[in-house]
Amino acid sequence: MNNFENQYLELLRWTLTDYHRIEMGEYKPIHRNSGSWKESILVNVNKFLGKKNLLICRRVLSTKEHRLNGADWPAYSETMIGLKRLMNIEECVRDIVQNNVEGDLIETGVWRGGATIYMKALLKILNDNSRTVWVADSFEGLPKPDAEKFPEDKGDKHHEKGELRISKEQVQNNFSKYGMLDDRVKFLKGWFKDTLPGAPIRKLSLLRLDGDMYQSTMEGLENLYPKLSVGGYIIVDDWGAVDGCRKAVEDYRKAHGITDEIKQVDWASVFWKKTAAK
Ligand SMILES: C[S@@+](CC[C@H](N)C(=O)[O-])C[C@H]1O[C@@H](n2cnc3c(N)ncnc32)[C@H](O)[C@@H]1O
Repeated sequence: MNNFENQYLELLRWTLTDYHRIEMGEYKPIHRNSGSWKESILVNVNKFLGKKNLLICRRVLSTKEHRLNGADWPAYSETMIGLKRLMNIEECVRDIVQNNVEGDLIETGVWRGGATIYMKALLKILNDNSRTVWVADSFEGLPKPDAEKFPEDKGDKHHEKGELRISKEQVQNNFSKYGMLDDRVKFLKGWFKDTLPGAPIRKLSLLRLDGDMYQSTMEGLENLYPKLSVGGYIIVDDWGAVDGCRKAVEDYRKAHGITDEIKQVDWASVFWKKTAAK
């Protein structure tokens, strides 16, 4: 890869994460009670206003730290994962292409699509026209927890977060904006429990799980890990951020005797290289 291509990828990472547009304010609805009586009143007023489609917002700033480490839900960028996690995707894709590891690339849980746009850009830069990038999401946020089947998700509130509901059309537009939408980008729209079991995917070389909850993580693992080639990579975005996600990965690894070394990407994300067919 020449210097020009590396500079293009760096610019793309900065644009996809909004690293170049630091300290733009974002207006976020007040959801959490920080403990003060003032905040407590605001949270309750917000609950009342929410029923009338109104909300009180506070201004939140994305800092360089946030965007480097994927530590916030940014207002404008195409991905909430930070620069470090994009670099991790790059490291994996380069290795896969260089070593001819068989299979497509997928992310389960794409939000505005930025991580999958970056996967597609990497394939283009590496002159790999054979692989498909699969973009799997409900495109309407997270499911309500099914605590009977997945007790680890009891009380999970992700499904209430309007910021996580991004339509398929919006994601397709984001792909188009970067010139990355073609017939080797395929969308799996719907809940993972419905779309992943019958997905027409033969083999995978990169499996990126970013569905936050125990259920979403486990459904990704059960349906897709057996399709991951030996030599391919699995990335778990929320290992350090959501207890249920880490528990799902631990349960799956234990049940299938997977002992491949887990490597840390940043405070939230981990990955490993698959070394044995399981
Ligand atoms: C944290 S966001 C993903 C962030 C994204 N990878 C990025 O680069 O910014 C989680 C996404 O997972 C999706 N999701 C979570 N659980 C799901 C499920 N069970 N079925 C379908 N989509 C799900 C949500 O709709 C949301 O878009």
